[in-house]
Amino acid sequence: MNRRVEPELLDELPPNDPDAVASRRDLRSLNFLMGHAAIVARVLLESAAQPPRWIVELGAGDGTFLLAVARRLARQWRNVEAVLLDRQNIVAERTRAGFRKLGWTSKLVQADVFDWLARSPEEAFDCTIVNLFLHHFPDVRLRKLLSLASERTNCFVACEPRRAPTVLGVSGLLWMIGCNSVTRHDAVASVRAGFIGEEIMALWPKESLWDLRESETRLFSHCFVALRALKCVGDDK
Ligand SMILES: C[S@@+](CC[C@H](N)C(=O)[O-])C[C@H]1O[C@@H](n2cnc3c(N)ncnc32)[C@H](O)[C@@H]1O
Repeated sequence: MNRRVEPELLDELPPNDPDAVASRRDLRSLNFLMGHAAIVARVLLESAAQPPRWIVELGAGDGTFLLAVARRLARQWRNVEAVLLDRQNIVAERTRAGFRKLGWTSKLVQADVFDWLARSPEEAFDCTIVNLFLHHFPDVRLRKLLSLASERTNCFVACEPRRAPTVLGVSGLLWMIGCNSVTRHDAVASVRAGFIGEEIMALWPKESLWDLRESETRLFSHCFVALRALKCVGDDK
């Protein structure tokens, strides 16, 4: 299967459209079923020499994914600022309250990821995470995104759909667990645009020193981790 990037319906619907609201609910269930928050939290804990001060999620959607990650980290990591960047402004007050309850703060940034990464290069983050986000971009754009992100972080963790016939088959069955038509369309499109092998690694900037890992994870997922080699996360504190 060659990688094929197509528009996703959730990206085009107005945030308050009932189908978009239902699809984001489906996305929360699918993230839970795929165990992505646990995967990302585990990688972050393994990677950080010290608790980070800032974590940013690019393409954070309604913010519930980073909150689920934060819930797994909060016992060890206190006083972290979670930066939630998305084109849409859809983070509910109860999600922000969820961060406060953990002793974390949250900052919302409504912006296009390319504009934001290019615009404020002085802002740097201990950890950058992305979940079901990189697959939105064709390789040329993705290379640019990874290059910009790599200048701003010490640790980059991505959890994406695996582009495999079995995963494509399962994504066609989401009606069985009640997912709506938007989710069903976007799930198939996401798998076709997903990753295998070392495809993300091949787009990561070559010139700098990074420890890179990329692999299939669990049944449906594909993960990429980049750790700045000569610097431990949290060293800047
Ligand atoms: C599939 S959703 C994933 C949301 C979240 N990461 C999660 O797992 O629940 C992808 C998100 O990327 C956002 N997005 C797509 N293109 C973007 C861009 N160029 N800049 C910022 N956000 C973008 C969409 O608005 C959407 O919220």
